[in-house]
Amino acid sequence: MPKTAHRVATFGTTIFTEINTLAQEHNAVNLGQGRPDFDGPQAAIEAAVAALRSGKANQYAPGPGTPELKTGVANHALRFYNMEIDPANGVLVTPGATEAVFCSIMGLVDPGDEVIVIEPFFDSYVPGIIMAGATPVYVPLRPPDWVFDPDELRAAFTPRTRALILNTPHNPTGRVFTRGELQTIADLCQEYDVTVISDEVYEHLVFEGSQHIPIATLPGMFERTVAIGSAGKTFGMTGWKVGWAYGHPELIAGVKRAQQFVSFATNHPAQLAVAHAFTLDSTYYEEYQALYTAKRDLMMQALDAAGLKARQPEGTYFVMADFSDVFDGDDVAFSKYLIQEIGVACIPPTAFYSREHAHIVNKQVRFAFCKGDDTLRAAGERMAKLRR
Ligand SMILES: Cc1ncc(COP(=O)(O)O)c(C=O)c1O
Repeated sequence: MPKTAHRVATFGTTIFTEINTLAQEHNAVNLGQGRPDFDGPQAAIEAAVAALRSGKANQYAPGPGTPELKTGVANHALRFYNMEIDPANGVLVTPGATEAVFCSIMGLVDPGDEVIVIEPFFDSYVPGIIMAGATPVYVPLRPPDWVFDPDELRAAFTPRTRALILNTPHNPTGRVFTRGELQTIADLCQEYDVTVISDEVYEHLVFEGSQHIPIATLPGMFERTVAIGSAGKTFGMTGWKVGWAYGHPELIAGVKRAQQFVSFATNHPAQLAVAHAFTLDSTYYEEYQALYTAKRDLMMQALDAAGLKARQPEGTYFVMADFSDVFDGDDVAFSKYLIQEIGVACIPPTAFYSREHAHIVNKQVRFAFCKGDDTLRAAGERMAKLRR
């Protein structure tokens, strides 16, 4: 009987599947998945339809991306971060940021290398590191402030460290790393000659009072950083699966070498639509932030009324909440209780930590607030029953 490969043997089925199934069974208001229940900009949808009808985009796109979208990514980096990116050699378009991260690991990390991962992590990072034959080394963020201990970070660096995966604005804590935190990371990466894979998919989901700083803009970091973005997040179209990696052409060349044999090319009409979305003026980004600021406020009110403690997110559409005042079990037990008895779904975050650090978040759950206001209000009404 043929067997599956050792490299995927530990992956299993994620807790997301279990939570989603349970949520459906109990007709729960689902604040689990980071999946907006509304569309992105209408102009981008119209551009997608026009691309389909044009008859010019229904065959393979150029492998590394269409010139229109690569130029869009480069112009965006100049417009928002004053970074000069070569659209021809410094940008790679991929089917979603997930593949950009995966191909960055495959293209820039060797078997036997170590890769530093900040916990809680986006769930594709660790399987990517394992598939590359490398070893993840974990540095936790701890509640209630979700900051790393600089000594713990330093201790994670060794002569075998090849890369560090950074995510800011950060899913699931809603943290936006400060310049000081980024400088600590940058100094260590320069000292140990380490590449940063910088997942910045929530770059435009930053609330007033915080600022997203791409680590590549810190002195000495451009040549050692691959930055990653996603139309799923920037333009609210997760179903399109269009992402990109950009940075120094020598690093992007490695990522491209891997990507050409993973997917080869990305959805052609969607690329043209995203290229059009990149031409939207600043009103789009202002409205996007205002929309999510109102949703964040609704979410915070709901958590407060329920008796859950949460640090107000600085960015993203996620918030972590401490339920220890209203429930005695762990995060998985609370998530199931919340679905079955209260009718709201959330995600237990121990799945985003290594086994050794999972205890750090066993009194926390993650809520996603990328949902219609009525849905958020309905969740709030149900959760009010939690308060002791
Ligand atoms: C931190 C982070 N990175 C990457 C992704 C995946 O992006 P995409 O859908 O473009 O693959 C997500 C999606 O939730 C995310 O939260």
